[in-house]
Amino acid sequence: MAGMRRGRRALLAQASGRVLEIGAGTGLNLAHYLDDEIDELVLAEPEPAMRERLTRRIRRCGSHAAVVDAPAEALPFADESFDTVVCTLVLCTVNAPDRALSEIGRVLRPDGRLLFIEHVRADSPTLAYLQDRLLEPWRRFASGCRCNRATVELMRACGFHVDARQSPWHAMPPIVRPLVSGRATCEAVIRG
Ligand SMILES: C[S@@+](CC[C@H](N)C(=O)[O-])C[C@H]1O[C@@H](n2cnc3c(N)ncnc32)[C@H](O)[C@@H]1O
Repeated sequence: MAGMRRGRRALLAQASGRVLEIGAGTGLNLAHYLDDEIDELVLAEPEPAMRERLTRRIRRCGSHAAVVDAPAEALPFADESFDTVVCTLVLCTVNAPDRALSEIGRVLRPDGRLLFIEHVRADSPTLAYLQDRLLEPWRRFASGCRCNRATVELMRACGFHVDARQSPWHAMPPIVRPLVSGRATCEAVIRG
């Protein structure tokens, strides 16, 4: 939640058509989708406790979103069946991000886009060194989050064309900076 509301709003204003959100958590993005732009919203979340809170939030805000129990690495959806996939603070946590990106590329229509906000490996060698050193304790503390993951480079390696920009995330410790947000398209995603 910390310091991300404005970023979520700006990102999710770009979501349209049939939309899949991966690792939707407790549903903090829900309030920011523009109903007029969305034909269908599917929220995938593999953790039962998160799914329960997500379902409660959906009920509270009268949303028609569907909740699906699925990990990013094995999405139970047809090829080229979504216009938009959304990922916020998820690719740091998934166990096999290359597999997850391949799945995202598979379910996206050829003109579809991945909208994301992720914290990534620091450009600063000093901070990147600290991220490497503190990886394991941070991972245990933060429910599996890998603070040193070079997610944008990984997206590119998986065949995405990425348009990303860094933004400050003052509310969080330096170990999870910088935060990047943007969109990625996938004409030729490398299938995993
Ligand atoms: C830091 S939370 C972010 C939640 C939400 N996206 C947000 O922006 O508030 C990370 C989320 O990723 C989910 N997650 C963990 N492993 C996953 C996986 N393999 N596939 C999909 N989601 C996963 C967690 O259950 C959790 O809901």
